[in-house]
Amino acid sequence: MSEPAPRDRIDTLLAHIGRDPRMHSGFVNPAIHRGSTVVFETMAECIGAHDIDFKDGPYTYGLLGTPVERQLEEALATLDGGIGAIALGSGLAATTVSLMANLSAGDHLLMVDTCYWPTRKCCDDFLGRMGVETTYYDPMIGAGVEALFRENTRVLFMESPGSRTFEIQDVPAMTKVAARNGVNTVIDNTWATPINFRPIEHGVDLVIHALTKYVAGHSDVMLGAIVARDREHWDRIKATAMDLGHGCSPDDAWLGLRGLRSLGTRLRKQGESSLEIARWLEKRPEVECVLHPGISSCPGHDIYVRDFDGPSGLFSMVLKPVDEERLADMLEGLRFFSMGYSWGGYESLVLPFDPMENRTVTPWNREGRCLRISIGLEDPGDLIRDLEMGFKRLNNPSAG
Ligand SMILES: Cc1ncc(COP(=O)(O)O)c(C=O)c1O
Repeated sequence: MSEPAPRDRIDTLLAHIGRDPRMHSGFVNPAIHRGSTVVFETMAECIGAHDIDFKDGPYTYGLLGTPVERQLEEALATLDGGIGAIALGSGLAATTVSLMANLSAGDHLLMVDTCYWPTRKCCDDFLGRMGVETTYYDPMIGAGVEALFRENTRVLFMESPGSRTFEIQDVPAMTKVAARNGVNTVIDNTWATPINFRPIEHGVDLVIHALTKYVAGHSDVMLGAIVARDREHWDRIKATAMDLGHGCSPDDAWLGLRGLRSLGTRLRKQGESSLEIARWLEKRPEVECVLHPGISSCPGHDIYVRDFDGPSGLFSMVLKPVDEERLADMLEGLRFFSMGYSWGGYESLVLPFDPMENRTVTPWNREGRCLRISIGLEDPGDLIRDLEMGFKRLNNPSAG
């Protein structure tokens, strides 16, 4: 099993894990093998390839892994302290494979109410059709989730902080009660990445990363991964990915591995800028509240301080009620923030959203429009000035 990454050595690890120049004629970075077919020297090797473990033994077929994918997987497993990782074509594929690997018809799933909305859609539509029942729970429930366990509860799924509204969950308390009841635990750790939160250290069985976001970091690739705590969970996700025909492109895996090298530096800068901007926004008269785990008013801030090593660049704000046309003026005139659905790239983004579209059991009592902000690598002073000009347009339609 890989050792968990010691906190103070994470940047050193990022520069050295997942590469072996001896395998690639001395070149620092791995070569990309674009391939489906692997050929064998002997009949015994060829026939034996049938019994080889998916993504564990010698290379046998493109879908079952190429050298660069395996190096990315090894790097991610080392960072998270898991036994192994599996790279897939998107973060959503990582989520759905982790669910399907642990659920069968007649099973019960506990899903956090503030999950990424396509995760919710998969539970309501696909898993529902397959005979799995989902109960949504309040992200702040903590150990109280035990009261929702049933005989047939197989998975407790967490996403911390919550998608768009940033509630931090008490992961150690939840994994403790889940382990006591034999329930598998899965977490979407895309916001924190292994740089800022390592769920396996807190008892989680499977960790999901949408590598599309901070790990790739350049808004140019779709990629996901699951890291498994132990052999039993590892075997199950491998078998499910194989059954469903999931893998990832070696070019994309290469971009993910390249992104990892600078992840620590980028995330630190984006996290610091996001805190600076969130604190500035908190004082603006147009803003009702800021939802950033690093700010004390955010639900679960105390847990964030206890368990996380820092923030990333993604947070939200709730505006005081405002005319939609004025808001459009504000957003459409921004110079450095574009409107878009993703996050974690080098460029800043803003996304208007309605929290009630994605939650069913957790109340939301605020009236104003919400904006999700993804802070990129720009100078935070320039971003603040851009937002300041935006607020001028919000307050005064004739302002440029
Ligand atoms: C929290 C979270 N998890 C998972 C995903 C899915 O990642 P991908 O877009 O790579 O499928 C996203 C995408 O926005 C996300 O925000």
